[in-house]
Amino acid sequence: IVLTEDASLPKAVRTTTGDKNIKLGEGDVKGARVKICGRIHRLRQQKQATFITLIDGYGHLQCVLTGDLTKTYDALTFAQGTSIALFGEMRKLPDGATAPDGRELQVDYYKVIGSAPSGDDAITNKVSSEKNMWDAQMLDNRHLVLRGDNASSVMKVRSAVEWAFAKAYKDLKFTKVSPPALVQTQVEGGSTLFELPYYDEKAYLTQSSQLYLETAIQSLGNVYCIEKSFRAEKSLTRRHLAEYAHVEAELDFIEFDDLLDHIELMIGTVIETILADPEIAGYIKELNPDFKAPAHPFKRMRYSDAIDWLNAQDPPILNEEGNPHVFGDDIAEAAERRMTDIINLPILLTHFPTAIKAFYMKRDPNDPRVTESVDVLMPGVGEIVGGSMRMEGYEELMAAYEREGIPPKEYYWYTDQRKYGTSPHGGYGLGLERFLAWVCNQHSVRTCCLYPRFMGRCKP
Ligand code: 4AD
Repeated sequence: IVLTEDASLPKAVRTTTGDKNIKLGEGDVKGARVKICGRIHRLRQQKQATFITLIDGYGHLQCVLTGDLTKTYDALTFAQGTSIALFGEMRKLPDGATAPDGRELQVDYYKVIGSAPSGDDAITNKVSSEKNMWDAQMLDNRHLVLRGDNASSVMKVRSAVEWAFAKAYKDLKFTKVSPPALVQTQVEGGSTLFELPYYDEKAYLTQSSQLYLETAIQSLGNVYCIEKSFRAEKSLTRRHLAEYAHVEAELDFIEFDDLLDHIELMIGTVIETILADPEIAGYIKELNPDFKAPAHPFKRMRYSDAIDWLNAQDPPILNEEGNPHVFGDDIAEAAERRMTDIINLPILLTHFPTAIKAFYMKRDPNDPRVTESVDVLMPGVGEIVGGSMRMEGYEELMAAYEREGIPPKEYYWYTDQRKYGTSPHGGYGLGLERFLAWVCNQHSVRTCCLYPRFMGRCKP
């Protein structure tokens, strides 16, 4: 059977599955005749009719083929993934039937654009919703996994979150800058640096754009960037990536409390923005039905109180050596997560000891054992933000380099900020994938990336 388009029908208007304004036919009333290009997502072949769920990146559409349309060679070899142009009338669903947006396309003509295999090579055989994403086959086939509803919904939310950050910063009059990825300085310790040859020199992939942001506030005012950061993490945890999207901002002429207020405001504003978009709110509802915007103000807790809290649990939550926590311990991922899950509220954890924090952090003037630093902890994920006030004084910074074994020569451009009109300033970095893991209820940050990078995985 060879199909031809019926020339007596109205000319089809090209549209997408996301267009909710198409006139629907009902009873004798004709709906609009449209042309929609997409791919077969689900296929149900019955005696009288073939039902296709079409995806095109904008939604799902139920399409019905009947009569000769179901009998062509193409129709008999339809498979998940087949790309196709469908022509037909959009109609309201009959009572009792359900399909996305309460409508279906009654197809009168189609053209297969790119066929997809069935059998061993079928998409359904390569990736399966039964398998979890740690499975090597699922990771190797990430390009096909991305066609699934879960993966694509997370990517839609990701896009909306990035845009919401950009909008919130713009509304606050922050300037966006784009610091380099190839650098010759470290920010967050030498152990997670990716080193690479750079002509005749050595360079690193940046761990954070912070130091560069600190050099931009003098002329641009408050600044932000959304760039990739790189960490050669040698552990395979569910919240560590080798390459991640880092939302970073730096604020000039502020005090520590201003920084905390700003971070809380940003998280609240971004959540509000994405939930106000019905399409995005829909994805979040599917992925994380119980998600609610967090209540303000967030709980604020000092590091030393967290140590007491961990020890006051029955039984106490122990440190990595299996002992009760003492002041100076790094609160490890497991303990931090348990605390956050038990408290079950966003927490701004502040005033970490100097010894366990980065060289650039400003000390608390009231207690020099600790820094003006903050981590934001979210139930289900743990830390999603790290930030601090920065050292202002030249001498103090030189001493910090010394303490950390950092060669001041490479950091002259960073040091110069203290020499030419220093100021009280601070900022933070938010891991976009961790934020998404929280909003989308993902077990791991890996499913929050288009193509995750972590130890042992650099493809596809
Ligand atoms: O706490 P971190 O290391 O802080 C900084 O890099 C600061 N220089 C940022 C700044 O002040 N501008 O990292 C900040 C956030 C973490 O809270 C976490 O959300 C994320 O970056 N992050 C990672 N996300 C995924 N994989 C990793 N390996 C990450 N390391 C940090």
